[in-house]
Amino acid sequence: LNNGLALTPQMGWNSWNFFACNINETVIRETADALVSTGLAELGYNYLNIDDCWSYVKRRNKDQLLPDPKNFPSGIKALADYVHGKGLKLGIYSDAGIFTCQVRPGSLYHENDDAALFASWGVDYLKYDNCYNLGIKPQKRYPPMRDALNSTGRQIFYSLCEWGQDDPALWAGKVGNSWRTTDDITDTWKSMTDIADKNNKWASYAGPGGWNDPDMLEVGNGGMTFAEYRSHFSIWALMKAPLLIGCDVRNMTSETMKILSNKEVIQVNQDPLGVQGRKILGEGKNGCREVWAGPLSGNRLAVALWNRCSEIANITMKLPAVGLDESAAYSVRDLWKVGK
Ligand code: DGJ
Repeated sequence: LNNGLALTPQMGWNSWNFFACNINETVIRETADALVSTGLAELGYNYLNIDDCWSYVKRRNKDQLLPDPKNFPSGIKALADYVHGKGLKLGIYSDAGIFTCQVRPGSLYHENDDAALFASWGVDYLKYDNCYNLGIKPQKRYPPMRDALNSTGRQIFYSLCEWGQDDPALWAGKVGNSWRTTDDITDTWKSMTDIADKNNKWASYAGPGGWNDPDMLEVGNGGMTFAEYRSHFSIWALMKAPLLIGCDVRNMTSETMKILSNKEVIQVNQDPLGVQGRKILGEGKNGCREVWAGPLSGNRLAVALWNRCSEIANITMKLPAVGLDESAAYSVRDLWKVGK
Protein backbone atom coordinates (compact mmCIF):
# COMPACT_ATOMS: atom_id res chain seq x y z
CA LEU A 1 0.00 0.00 0.00
CA ASN A 2 1.39 3.31 -1.05
CA ASN A 3 0.94 5.27 2.20
CA GLY A 4 4.58 6.03 2.85
CA LEU A 5 4.91 3.24 5.42
CA ALA A 6 6.46 -0.25 5.46
CA LEU A 7 9.43 0.58 3.27
CA THR A 8 10.99 -2.29 5.22
CA PRO A 9 9.04 -4.93 7.18
CA GLN A 10 7.51 -3.71 10.44
CA MET A 11 9.33 -4.48 13.68
CA GLY A 12 7.96 -4.42 17.19
CA TRP A 13 5.99 -6.43 19.70
CA ASN A 14 2.46 -7.84 19.84
CA SER A 15 0.56 -9.05 22.90
CA TRP A 16 -1.20 -12.12 21.45
CA ASN A 17 1.32 -14.99 21.35
CA PHE A 18 2.22 -14.73 25.04
CA PHE A 19 -0.65 -12.91 26.75
CA ALA A 20 -3.68 -13.77 24.58
CA CYS A 21 -6.59 -12.07 26.42
CA ASN A 22 -4.66 -11.49 29.66
CA ILE A 23 -3.70 -7.94 28.80
CA ASN A 24 -4.06 -4.66 30.64
CA GLU A 25 -2.55 -1.21 30.57
CA THR A 26 0.13 -2.12 33.12
CA VAL A 27 1.44 -4.91 30.90
CA ILE A 28 1.52 -2.52 27.94
CA ARG A 29 3.32 0.21 29.91
CA GLU A 30 5.85 -2.24 31.35
CA THR A 31 6.43 -3.66 27.89
CA ALA A 32 7.14 -0.18 26.57
CA ASP A 33 9.62 0.31 29.41
CA ALA A 34 11.25 -3.06 28.70
CA LEU A 35 11.55 -2.48 24.97
CA VAL A 36 13.54 0.64 25.76
CA SER A 37 15.61 -0.63 28.70
CA THR A 38 16.66 -3.86 26.94
CA GLY A 39 17.83 -1.91 23.89
CA LEU A 40 15.31 -3.66 21.61
CA ALA A 41 13.65 -0.35 20.73
CA GLU A 42 16.95 1.05 19.56
CA LEU A 43 17.47 -2.02 17.39
CA GLY A 44 14.28 -1.11 15.51
CA TYR A 45 11.48 -2.83 17.44
CA ASN A 46 9.33 0.27 17.61
CA TYR A 47 5.69 -0.79 17.20
CA LEU A 48 3.99 -1.84 20.43
CA ASN A 49 0.83 -3.58 19.27
CA ILE A 50 -2.17 -4.46 21.41
CA ASP A 51 -4.06 -7.44 20.01
CA ASP A 52 -7.58 -8.73 20.69
CA CYS A 53 -9.40 -8.13 24.04
CA TRP A 54 -8.55 -4.48 24.65
CA SER A 55 -12.10 -3.44 23.92
CA TYR A 56 -15.24 -3.71 26.04
CA VAL A 57 -17.83 -6.22 24.79
CA LYS A 58 -20.26 -3.47 23.80
CA ARG A 59 -19.95 -0.13 22.07
CA ARG A 60 -20.74 3.00 24.09
CA ASN A 61 -24.43 3.78 23.30
CA LYS A 62 -24.16 1.15 20.54
CA ASP A 63 -21.87 3.66 18.85
CA GLN A 64 -18.29 4.31 19.88
CA LEU A 65 -15.79 1.59 20.69
CA LEU A 66 -14.91 1.59 24.37
CA PRO A 67 -11.70 0.30 25.95
CA ASP A 68 -12.44 -2.36 28.60
CA PRO A 69 -12.85 -0.19 31.73
CA LYS A 70 -11.47 -2.92 33.97
CA ASN A 71 -8.19 -3.58 32.14
CA PHE A 72 -7.69 -0.24 30.38
CA PRO A 73 -9.20 2.27 32.84
CA SER A 74 -7.02 5.17 31.65
CA GLY A 75 -8.04 4.64 28.03
CA ILE A 76 -6.04 4.16 24.88
CA LYS A 77 -5.14 7.84 24.35
CA ALA A 78 -3.28 7.92 27.66
CA LEU A 79 -1.48 4.73 26.70
CA ALA A 80 -0.56 6.13 23.28
CA ASP A 81 0.84 9.24 24.97
CA TYR A 82 2.92 7.07 27.30
CA VAL A 83 4.21 4.89 24.47
CA HIS A 84 4.99 7.92 22.29
CA GLY A 85 6.84 9.45 25.21
CA LYS A 86 9.16 6.45 25.06
CA GLY A 87 9.80 7.04 21.37
CA LEU A 88 7.64 4.06 20.36
CA LYS A 89 4.47 3.75 18.28
CA LEU A 90 1.17 2.23 19.38
CA GLY A 91 -0.75 -0.42 17.46
CA ILE A 92 -4.31 -1.53 18.00
CA TYR A 93 -6.52 -4.33 16.75
CA SER A 94 -9.95 -4.70 15.23
CA ASP A 95 -11.79 -7.04 12.90
CA ALA A 96 -13.30 -6.92 9.41
CA GLY A 97 -16.40 -8.61 10.75
CA ILE A 98 -19.16 -7.95 13.26
CA PHE A 99 -17.10 -9.29 16.19
CA THR A 100 -13.43 -9.88 16.86
CA CYS A 101 -12.30 -13.48 17.31
CA GLN A 102 -12.74 -13.07 21.08
CA VAL A 103 -16.20 -11.62 20.53
CA ARG A 104 -15.53 -7.94 21.11
CA PRO A 105 -17.19 -5.48 18.65
CA GLY A 106 -15.81 -5.66 15.10
CA SER A 107 -15.43 -2.74 12.71
CA LEU A 108 -17.38 -4.01 9.69
CA TYR A 109 -19.79 -1.20 8.72
CA HIS A 110 -18.16 1.07 11.36
CA GLU A 111 -14.95 1.66 9.43
CA ASN A 112 -15.04 5.46 9.31
CA ASP A 113 -16.05 5.99 12.93
CA ASP A 114 -13.52 3.49 14.25
CA ALA A 115 -10.66 4.74 12.10
CA ALA A 116 -11.39 8.32 13.20
CA LEU A 117 -11.44 7.23 16.85
CA PHE A 118 -8.14 5.35 16.50
CA ALA A 119 -6.57 8.40 14.85
CA SER A 120 -7.88 10.69 17.61
CA TRP A 121 -6.23 8.43 20.19
CA GLY A 122 -2.89 8.69 18.35
CA VAL A 123 -2.83 5.10 17.12
CA ASP A 124 -0.10 4.32 14.57
CA TYR A 125 -0.93 0.78 13.45
CA LEU A 126 -4.03 -1.35 12.93
CA LYS A 127 -4.10 -5.13 12.78
CA TYR A 128 -7.39 -6.09 11.14
CA ASP A 129 -8.63 -9.63 11.81
CA ASN A 130 -11.09 -11.84 9.96
CA CYS A 131 -13.60 -13.42 12.38
CA TYR A 132 -17.41 -13.18 12.13
CA ASN A 133 -17.12 -11.92 8.58
CA LEU A 134 -20.63 -12.87 7.41
CA GLY A 135 -19.10 -14.82 4.55
CA ILE A 136 -18.30 -11.63 2.64
CA LYS A 137 -15.12 -11.78 0.54
CA PRO A 138 -12.07 -10.10 2.10
CA GLN A 139 -11.53 -8.18 -1.14
CA LYS A 140 -14.77 -6.37 -0.21
CA ARG A 141 -14.23 -6.05 3.55
CA TYR A 142 -10.61 -4.85 3.77
CA PRO A 143 -10.49 -1.84 1.37
CA PRO A 144 -13.12 0.22 3.26
CA MET A 145 -10.87 0.31 6.34
CA ARG A 146 -7.89 1.29 4.16
CA ASP A 147 -9.91 4.22 2.84
CA ALA A 148 -11.17 5.11 6.31
CA LEU A 149 -7.63 5.12 7.75
CA ASN A 150 -6.42 7.16 4.82
CA SER A 151 -9.10 9.78 5.28
CA THR A 152 -8.11 10.37 8.92
CA GLY A 153 -4.99 12.16 7.70
CA ARG A 154 -2.89 10.23 10.24
CA GLN A 155 -0.30 7.78 8.93
CA ILE A 156 -1.50 4.40 10.18
CA PHE A 157 0.19 1.13 9.27
CA TYR A 158 -2.48 -1.27 7.95
CA SER A 159 -1.88 -4.94 8.71
CA LEU A 160 -4.30 -7.39 7.09
CA CYS A 161 -5.03 -10.55 9.00
CA GLU A 162 -7.26 -12.69 6.76
CA TRP A 163 -5.06 -15.75 7.40
CA GLY A 164 -4.12 -16.31 3.76
CA GLN A 165 -7.61 -17.55 3.00
CA ASP A 166 -8.14 -15.80 -0.32
CA ASP A 167 -4.50 -15.69 -1.46
CA PRO A 168 -4.06 -12.08 -0.32
CA ALA A 169 -0.63 -11.75 -1.95
CA LEU A 170 -2.54 -11.61 -5.24
CA TRP A 171 -4.68 -8.59 -4.30
CA ALA A 172 -3.57 -7.03 -1.02
CA GLY A 173 -0.61 -5.06 -2.37
CA LYS A 174 -2.95 -2.12 -2.98
CA VAL A 175 -4.90 -2.66 0.24
CA GLY A 176 -2.48 -3.12 3.13
CA ASN A 177 1.12 -2.80 4.29
CA SER A 178 1.27 -6.52 5.12
CA TRP A 179 -1.02 -9.50 4.81
CA ARG A 180 -1.03 -12.76 6.72
CA THR A 181 -0.34 -15.70 4.43
CA THR A 182 -1.28 -18.50 6.86
CA ASP A 183 -3.24 -19.60 9.89
CA ASP A 184 -1.96 -18.78 13.36
CA ILE A 185 1.53 -19.86 14.33
CA THR A 186 1.94 -22.03 17.44
CA ASP A 187 5.10 -22.38 19.47
CA THR A 188 6.27 -25.60 17.81
CA TRP A 189 8.88 -26.57 15.23
CA LYS A 190 6.19 -28.16 13.04
CA SER A 191 4.00 -25.07 12.93
CA MET A 192 6.94 -22.75 12.32
CA THR A 193 8.44 -24.84 9.48
CA ASP A 194 5.05 -25.45 7.79
CA ILE A 195 4.36 -21.72 7.86
CA ALA A 196 7.78 -20.89 6.43
CA ASP A 197 7.04 -23.18 3.46
CA LYS A 198 3.59 -21.70 2.88
CA ASN A 199 4.85 -18.13 3.07
CA ASN A 200 7.68 -18.95 0.67
CA LYS A 201 5.18 -19.54 -2.11
CA TRP A 202 4.30 -15.85 -2.27
CA ALA A 203 7.85 -14.45 -2.24
CA SER A 204 7.59 -12.58 -5.53
CA TYR A 205 4.66 -10.46 -4.27
CA ALA A 206 6.52 -8.84 -1.35
CA GLY A 207 8.33 -5.53 -1.54
CA PRO A 208 8.59 -2.04 -0.05
CA GLY A 209 5.10 -0.95 0.99
CA GLY A 210 3.63 -4.46 1.30
CA TRP A 211 4.95 -7.65 2.90
CA ASN A 212 3.91 -11.27 3.27
CA ASP A 213 3.19 -11.94 6.94
CA PRO A 214 3.84 -15.49 8.18
CA ASP A 215 2.64 -14.41 11.65
CA MET A 216 4.44 -13.21 14.75
CA LEU A 217 7.58 -14.57 16.36
CA GLU A 218 7.43 -17.29 18.99
CA VAL A 219 11.09 -16.79 20.01
CA GLY A 220 11.29 -16.86 23.79
CA ASN A 221 7.97 -18.58 24.49
CA GLY A 222 9.53 -21.90 25.47
CA GLY A 223 8.26 -24.42 22.92
CA MET A 224 11.42 -24.65 20.81
CA THR A 225 15.12 -25.04 21.49
CA PHE A 226 17.70 -22.29 21.07
CA ALA A 227 18.76 -23.72 17.68
CA GLU A 228 15.12 -23.96 16.56
CA TYR A 229 14.35 -20.38 17.57
CA ARG A 230 17.53 -19.26 15.82
CA SER A 231 16.22 -20.92 12.62
CA HIS A 232 12.81 -19.31 13.13
CA PHE A 233 14.33 -15.84 13.51
CA SER A 234 16.81 -16.32 10.63
CA ILE A 235 14.18 -17.50 8.15
CA TRP A 236 11.69 -14.80 9.18
CA ALA A 237 14.46 -12.22 8.67
CA LEU A 238 15.43 -13.63 5.29
CA MET A 239 11.77 -13.87 4.15
CA LYS A 240 11.34 -10.18 4.92
CA ALA A 241 8.63 -11.10 7.40
CA PRO A 242 7.43 -8.61 10.00
CA LEU A 243 9.63 -9.04 13.07
CA LEU A 244 7.00 -8.78 15.78
CA ILE A 245 8.22 -10.18 19.07
CA GLY A 246 5.64 -12.41 20.74
CA CYS A 247 7.20 -13.17 24.12
CA ASP A 248 7.15 -11.37 27.46
CA VAL A 249 10.01 -8.90 26.97
CA ARG A 250 9.89 -8.03 30.68
CA ASN A 251 11.24 -11.50 31.48
CA MET A 252 13.53 -12.70 28.70
CA THR A 253 16.41 -15.14 29.05
CA SER A 254 19.78 -14.07 27.70
CA GLU A 255 19.37 -16.69 24.94
CA THR A 256 16.13 -15.07 23.79
CA MET A 257 17.75 -11.65 23.86
CA LYS A 258 20.75 -12.97 21.94
CA ILE A 259 18.51 -14.12 19.11
CA LEU A 260 16.23 -11.07 18.96
CA SER A 261 19.10 -8.61 19.15
CA ASN A 262 21.36 -9.99 16.42
CA LYS A 263 21.99 -6.75 14.56
CA GLU A 264 23.22 -8.27 11.33
CA VAL A 265 20.27 -10.64 11.05
CA ILE A 266 17.97 -7.66 11.66
CA GLN A 267 19.83 -5.82 8.90
CA VAL A 268 19.07 -8.67 6.50
CA ASN A 269 15.39 -8.17 7.28
CA GLN A 270 15.57 -4.39 7.05
CA ASP A 271 17.71 -4.24 3.92
CA PRO A 272 16.50 -1.39 1.67
CA LEU A 273 16.36 -3.61 -1.43
CA GLY A 274 13.35 -5.35 0.12
CA VAL A 275 13.46 -8.63 -1.80
CA GLN A 276 12.02 -11.66 -0.02
CA GLY A 277 14.55 -14.51 0.16
CA ARG A 278 13.28 -17.94 -0.82
CA LYS A 279 13.97 -21.64 -0.71
CA ILE A 280 16.52 -22.42 -3.41
CA LEU A 281 17.23 -26.06 -2.69
CA GLY A 282 15.91 -28.91 -0.60
CA GLU A 283 17.73 -32.24 -0.60
CA GLY A 284 18.35 -35.21 1.66
CA LYS A 285 15.63 -37.19 3.39
CA ASN A 286 12.33 -35.39 2.74
CA GLY A 287 14.34 -32.51 1.31
CA CYS A 288 15.30 -31.52 4.80
CA ARG A 289 18.76 -30.09 3.96
CA GLU A 290 17.75 -26.76 2.61
CA VAL A 291 19.30 -23.62 1.19
CA TRP A 292 17.35 -20.37 1.39
CA ALA A 293 18.72 -17.18 -0.13
CA GLY A 294 17.88 -13.68 -1.22
CA PRO A 295 19.65 -10.63 -2.63
CA LEU A 296 20.61 -7.66 -0.47
CA SER A 297 21.62 -4.13 -1.40
CA GLY A 298 25.25 -3.44 -2.25
CA ASN A 299 25.74 -6.60 -4.29
CA ARG A 300 25.36 -8.84 -1.29
CA LEU A 301 23.44 -12.03 -0.76
CA ALA A 302 21.97 -13.55 2.39
CA VAL A 303 22.10 -17.35 2.49
CA ALA A 304 20.70 -19.70 5.12
CA LEU A 305 21.88 -23.30 5.20
CA TRP A 306 18.94 -24.82 7.03
CA ASN A 307 19.16 -28.29 8.52
CA ARG A 308 15.59 -29.46 9.04
CA CYS A 309 16.64 -33.09 9.57
CA SER A 310 16.85 -34.47 13.08
CA GLU A 311 20.53 -35.38 12.78
CA ILE A 312 23.68 -33.36 12.14
CA ALA A 313 24.09 -32.67 8.43
CA ASN A 314 26.58 -31.21 6.00
CA ILE A 315 24.89 -28.83 3.60
CA THR A 316 26.62 -27.90 0.38
CA MET A 317 25.61 -25.02 -1.79
CA LYS A 318 27.04 -24.63 -5.28
CA LEU A 319 27.50 -20.99 -6.21
CA PRO A 320 25.47 -21.11 -9.46
CA ALA A 321 22.46 -22.28 -7.41
CA VAL A 322 22.26 -18.75 -6.05
CA GLY A 323 23.26 -17.07 -9.28
CA LEU A 324 26.94 -16.58 -8.46
CA ASP A 325 29.90 -17.12 -10.73
CA GLU A 326 32.12 -20.04 -9.62
CA SER A 327 35.29 -18.42 -10.91
CA ALA A 328 34.88 -15.24 -8.88
CA ALA A 329 35.95 -14.66 -5.28
CA TYR A 330 33.52 -13.70 -2.53
CA SER A 331 33.83 -12.84 1.09
CA VAL A 332 31.59 -14.83 3.39
CA ARG A 333 30.46 -14.03 6.87
CA ASP A 334 28.53 -16.12 9.41
CA LEU A 335 25.99 -13.80 11.00
CA TRP A 336 25.60 -16.08 13.99
CA LYS A 337 29.30 -16.43 14.63
CA VAL A 338 31.39 -13.41 13.66
CA GLY A 339 32.24 -11.36 16.70
CA LYS A 340 29.83 -13.31 18.90
C1 DGJ B 1 -6.63 -14.60 15.04
C2 DGJ B 1 -5.34 -13.96 14.61
O1 DGJ B 1 -4.80 -14.66 13.52
C3 DGJ B 1 -4.37 -13.95 15.78
O2 DGJ B 1 -3.13 -13.43 15.38
C4 DGJ B 1 -4.97 -13.15 16.92
O3 DGJ B 1 -5.10 -11.81 16.52
C5 DGJ B 1 -6.30 -13.73 17.32
N1 DGJ B 1 -7.18 -13.88 16.18
C6 DGJ B 1 -6.99 -12.87 18.36
O4 DGJ B 1 -8.25 -13.29 18.66
